[in-house]
Amino acid sequence: MKKIIISYSFTGNNDKLAENVSKELDIKHIRIDENKKRTIWTIFFDVIFKRTPKVNPEPYILNDYDFIIFMGPVWMGKVATPFHKYLEYLKNNPKKYAYISICGGSQDSDIKILTCLKEMCTIAPTIIVEKHINDLLTKETKIEAKDVMKYKVSESEIKQFTDIIVQRLNQL
Ligand SMILES: Cc1cc2nc3c(=O)[nH]c(=O)nc-3n(C[C@H](O)[C@H](O)[C@H](O)COP(=O)(O)O)c2cc1C
Repeated sequence: MKKIIISYSFTGNNDKLAENVSKELDIKHIRIDENKKRTIWTIFFDVIFKRTPKVNPEPYILNDYDFIIFMGPVWMGKVATPFHKYLEYLKNNPKKYAYISICGGSQDSDIKILTCLKEMCTIAPTIIVEKHINDLLTKETKIEAKDVMKYKVSESEIKQFTDIIVQRLNQL
């Protein structure tokens, strides 16, 4: 099965994870670029108004692959909006896909993400893996919700997440 990792990151965490998983599993990796500069405000307005931002590359590149592994953040309980165009494309061009995220970790967010993905492309993902930042930290170093949004994972933390994701993907 020909696989591709498509990643998007606002603060760098998911891109780093995608880069590492791509190297470990020898899967092609493409980062999503946006035409407009992303800010915290455009995150809020995109999510609230369910906007589909312009992205590069165009989603037809998915045609060459059988299994699409999206890696990106969770924003306000939803899939990050730079993935919208790809998910809309999959609605008309169904393929197996996964959504993998290093995220802050909010209540029931895996259920919310599943609902959001099914709304956008009608097909359910083969797998959703959410890794919560606080799960990596010890009791002493755990951070508050307000600080999670800014937290940049370290190389050793990325390594831990990479090992977990590689194992999960190898089980498929
Ligand atoms: C505006 C905003 C809203 C967020 N909302 C959520 C959320 O609802 N649930 C969650 O688990 N994480 C949430 N996060 C945290 C991000 O998912 C987390 O910081 C992630 O690691 C960022 O990934 P990135 O570095 O690849 O952009 C939010 C972050 C931002 C900036």
